[in-house]
Amino acid sequence: MSAFIGTSNPGFAPFAMEELRRRWPDVSLSGLAPGETFKFVVSGADDRELAVQLRKDEPIFLRHLFPVREELEIPQQAEEVASALVRFAGSLADEVKDAKVAVQVRKSQDSPFPFSSAEARDLMVPALLEAGAETVSRGAKRIVSVYAAKRTLYLGLSAPADNLSDWPGGAVRFRREEGLISRAAFKLLEAEQTFDLPFERFTNALDLGAAPGGWTSVLLERGLRVTAVDPAEMDESLAGQPRLRHLRQNAADLNFAPGTFDLLVCDMSWDPHHTARIVKQLAPALSAGASVIVTLKLMYKKPMQTIADLLGSYEESFDIRRVKQLFHNRDEATVWMRK
Ligand SMILES: C[S@@+](CC[C@H](N)C(=O)[O-])C[C@H]1O[C@@H](n2cnc3c(N)ncnc32)[C@H](O)[C@@H]1O
Repeated sequence: MSAFIGTSNPGFAPFAMEELRRRWPDVSLSGLAPGETFKFVVSGADDRELAVQLRKDEPIFLRHLFPVREELEIPQQAEEVASALVRFAGSLADEVKDAKVAVQVRKSQDSPFPFSSAEARDLMVPALLEAGAETVSRGAKRIVSVYAAKRTLYLGLSAPADNLSDWPGGAVRFRREEGLISRAAFKLLEAEQTFDLPFERFTNALDLGAAPGGWTSVLLERGLRVTAVDPAEMDESLAGQPRLRHLRQNAADLNFAPGTFDLLVCDMSWDPHHTARIVKQLAPALSAGASVIVTLKLMYKKPMQTIADLLGSYEESFDIRRVKQLFHNRDEATVWMRK
């Protein structure tokens, strides 16, 4: 039997749970932080096997998970909580020796857990150092996870890849760069990282629904030429950019020579089915093997059905590579496809 703590974007836990139920019909599920964090138990396979299965065929809405090694009722006294954390860290000695180890601590809003994440981490670090581990915040080979819920403390140790993300709870953070045009830029930066798709690889990009220009600015920074399409104004900081052309047009009315672009990105705020029709219409303007990144707007009540319908439609023109609800996605998911 393997128990995990799973996390999705706020409000999307029911869909993350449904994905698990479809995969493992006898999975047992219980909510911890409503809409966001839950425990799931799968019988008949070990943690590693399940993690590998999840990595190979990655769920869309499950953003992060960690295997539960130990769970205990949260003691009333802070000292007892502290000694439980220290004891758990000490119990990992054989597994963390000579490894880079990160400690990630999260808690639900209703948890009586008496420490901040940083305080809890500081309590555990000495025991890990004593065991010969090097403690780090990024680039770890092993992650010690702590999740404090309303009554229970869940503790685990895993490889970052088995957690689906090496960020605590999958909450990817970027440094707020100077002069960032829109928060939307984070979505594209996260897609680049998640899909392992360095944009420097591309030369000529088409950005549909580009205003005010967050995505465009990321692509320009990576050295690409960008054709930005949006009836709305682009941010004035982009004026005079020699590698940028702004077409103040409806994306439905575009026409380009065959094979013009090797990257199409689209964050258009429109009915996702209309958007799919437009992106598909533009397939001839892309070179063979071109990448396409689109945010799938989940404006209808049934996000799983919407995604299934949209992928069915995109599949007619593209090879679908990955679909994921990213941490920076709100009511949407992001798809990466190839022509
Ligand atoms: C969420 S914003 C895009 C933000 C942008 N990705 C950024 O990083 O700044 C959506 C944009 O889609 C544009 N849009 C909606 N329908 C469109 C259409 N049919 N053709 C072109 N642009 C459209 C809107 O004008 C709006 O500026």
